[in-house]
Amino acid sequence: MQPDPTPAPAPVVPTYWDYLQIDTLLGLQGGLAGDESGLSADELLFIIVHQSYELWFKQVLRELKEATALLGGARLDEEKVPDVVHQLRRAAQVLRLAVEQFHVMETLTPQDFLSFRDKLVPASGFQSFQVRELELRLGLTAAQRERYGETDALAHIKGLADRSPAGARAWAHIAAAQADAAAGLTLRQVVEDWLARTPIEGSTPGQPEDSAVVDHFIEGYLGALDAWHGEQLRRLLSAQLTSAAELEARFSAASAAAARFLRAEDAPDDERDHRKRARAGLLFIESHRDLPLLAWPRTLIDTVVELEEQLVLFRHRHARMVERVIGRRVGTGGSSGVEYLDRTTHARVFADLWGVRTLLMPKDRVPALSNEAFYAFSAPPPRG
Ligand code: HEM
Repeated sequence: MQPDPTPAPAPVVPTYWDYLQIDTLLGLQGGLAGDESGLSADELLFIIVHQSYELWFKQVLRELKEATALLGGARLDEEKVPDVVHQLRRAAQVLRLAVEQFHVMETLTPQDFLSFRDKLVPASGFQSFQVRELELRLGLTAAQRERYGETDALAHIKGLADRSPAGARAWAHIAAAQADAAAGLTLRQVVEDWLARTPIEGSTPGQPEDSAVVDHFIEGYLGALDAWHGEQLRRLLSAQLTSAAELEARFSAASAAAARFLRAEDAPDDERDHRKRARAGLLFIESHRDLPLLAWPRTLIDTVVELEEQLVLFRHRHARMVERVIGRRVGTGGSSGVEYLDRTTHARVFADLWGVRTLLMPKDRVPALSNEAFYAFSAPPPRG
């Protein structure tokens, strides 16, 4: 008998189980054999926990993509900044929840896991294409990504993806994120572009005197920071706890690092001016966060830091859970296991947002503004 080609009519009365497709959802926990009745409660837990994570990653990706598109739009209406914050804040909250969920996974004892672990080889969370997409869309670069033994992590996944239609679909997500990243559509890049447009002393990029205003702000700040470092040094020297040479070297390195950061001496030549303008904008917002028109910009920065903090905590928490369940053995995916996972916790996508914190000074140390009125609520919209 031929199957009926006409689709079933939509139910007239919406129900919980139709709308959420609960039937389909609850039929997806059968594992490799597609038969849930053959699974232990431990393996069912292992599957459900992973699937829950993947659902949450899906939501995080949606929020991230929309927030990035909004912030990276040709002309961002400043009134949209709260919307961007709203979406990124939700993504951060989901990741916070994801960090917590490892408690449930930890109820799996090492021996419980060993009873079904071998059949997973070489599958691994390492192949979670949604996590890879998340990293790419945030702006993690190839240089920042931990190598998977001899190979690049994405090349390793591509090799596996080429073997099946599901793999090809998984890879399509990564390829799309790579294409967006190549076009500058990552959260890191659009945040940097947005920061570079921050008015400094009321001046915006494109205005004739803008680079002079920015340089004046940077050099004035560095002078004040140097003076403050000097005072801290003298206070520590008078306590006579650490050798004078060691302390002097430490403060002089801190002042030199601050200058290198604000003058963007670490940036490639063709990116230096842009990076310098963005870092100056960042420092300006962080140093004058009490000004009314900087309230949303500073909240946006805090939210991005919160988002990355949750991702780093996810990596740490996952590594500790793994250490508890499998010790330091080789992972099912073939990596060095916990040692590899711990290395992934070091990279920071939003390195500038973290880095600027080392340079901040108490309010009364920050050079006074000459154009404070520009940032009051009655002022014209600040960005061009
Ligand atoms: C008993 C439970 C788990 C164990 C023993 C475990 C173990 C591991 C190990 C050893 C790796 C390194 C790659 C490898 O050699 O396989 C890894 C990677 C990974 N796992 Fe898990 N995992 C567990 C649960 C989870 C859960 C619930 C998630 C949530 C999605 C997850 C997500 C990941 C991700 C995203 C990676 C890649 C990390 C990276 O390369 O940055 N894992 N896991």
